[in-house]
Amino acid sequence: MEIKAVLFDLDGVIADTAKFHFIAWKTIAKEVGVEIDEKFNEKLKGVDRVLSFERILAHGNITSLTEEEKEYYRTKKNNLYKELLKKLTPDDVLPGIVDLFNELIDNNIKISIASISQNAPYILEKLNLLEKIDAIADPKAVKNSKPAPDIFLKAAEMVGVDACNCVAIEDAEAGIEAINRAEIFSIGVGDLFGADLLVDSTGELNLDIIRKALK
Ligand code: BG6
Ligand code: MG
Repeated sequence: MEIKAVLFDLDGVIADTAKFHFIAWKTIAKEVGVEIDEKFNEKLKGVDRVLSFERILAHGNITSLTEEEKEYYRTKKNNLYKELLKKLTPDDVLPGIVDLFNELIDNNIKISIASISQNAPYILEKLNLLEKIDAIADPKAVKNSKPAPDIFLKAAEMVGVDACNCVAIEDAEAGIEAINRAEIFSIGVGDLFGADLLVDSTGELNLDIIRKALK
């Protein structure tokens, strides 16, 4: 298979922003009387804002909030999260990612972002990566969040590459399922189930290891 595009998740693959999502959700969860820990947080990775809050409420058996109240807390969480993001600098890009981007650019392979985060353009700008990226799939333009395949198919479409010529990288279980359902070669970072290629850290990723796994 010839690789023509690599589709990247953002939070937890390009930068360690997953910890900021956790800090912000933990604060909001506490405000509504729910305790969450790192283990529960795994269920929020790759999941959009609305569903993340629903999972937190279900975890605490909270059924009393109106839609307006939910929107208030989701907005508050996003404001807290954006406050934490202000500290991001290019030094926060995860190991190996800039080298991988440069290798892909040198090999004429497109780089497309398949994140469900509405903050992706802001984060990529803070990390000084926007000029290396060919496309960012707009999560508002897709119907279903991960684990549905939609955002990965949109990211492939945006760079004009068939899914069969893409590989995609994820750090969340919902993301691996989304990639697999899109019938794209899946690369997992961390302790994940079901990835076609699994690495412990982004520092291990390069074109050679990906090409070898494809054979
Ligand atoms: C995903 C994160 O990338 O984006 C989730 O893994 C997060 O934790 C989701 O909920 C939505 O992000 P945002 O920034 O639009 O709230
Ligand atoms: Mg992620």
